[in-house]
Amino acid sequence: MLSSLYFASSNQNKFEEAKSILSEFGISLKFFKCSLEEIQADTLEEIAQYKANLAYRLCSKPVIVEDAGLFITALKGFPGPYSSFVFDTIGNKGILKMLSKQRRALFQSVIAYCERKQDVMLFEASVQGKISKKLQGKRWGYDPIFIPEGQTVTYSQLKNKNKVSHRYLALRKFANWYLHKQISSGR
Ligand code: IMP
Repeated sequence: MLSSLYFASSNQNKFEEAKSILSEFGISLKFFKCSLEEIQADTLEEIAQYKANLAYRLCSKPVIVEDAGLFITALKGFPGPYSSFVFDTIGNKGILKMLSKQRRALFQSVIAYCERKQDVMLFEASVQGKISKKLQGKRWGYDPIFIPEGQTVTYSQLKNKNKVSHRYLALRKFANWYLHKQISSGR
């Protein structure tokens, strides 16, 4: 039996996706709903690391957090680490207004795991893609405007987002490491 693993976030959508992805690896995830301070930093890694330490201090249990960001080539990587703030201010419509022909973008996810004070493991992955010309589909966050490479529709319209997303790829790396660790420690 694996020890309990928590996912700290205020975002129920993220948790549901992470839970569904990790269940395929036999890892069960519990929701630790909380609002973690978002620091301003240049990379998602720094933000995720900070949030994981904070989450561990709050729940004192093995915990993962995620920091994600949308990096748009024509905007020199913006909003990147500021994706949350940009979504809450100008939103998808604001992003669409800023773009013309060049629509390349990358969605990145960094998963940070902490089970001991000041000891954080990071797992990063990204998906190349482009920004759609208009909003397509519903769902949450940037899903209605991000079309992953090799697809013709947005994350919102994909039936199997959880099998191709930036979150899936980062969590797969985490799951392989975590399961190996559990076996090595005889749990
Ligand atoms: P966060 O800082 O990791 O919470 O995410 C930054 C921003 O990207 C937030 O506005 C999220 O809603 C958005 N976001 C993160 N992951 C996804 C996703 O898988 N689909 C759509 N939007 C996302």
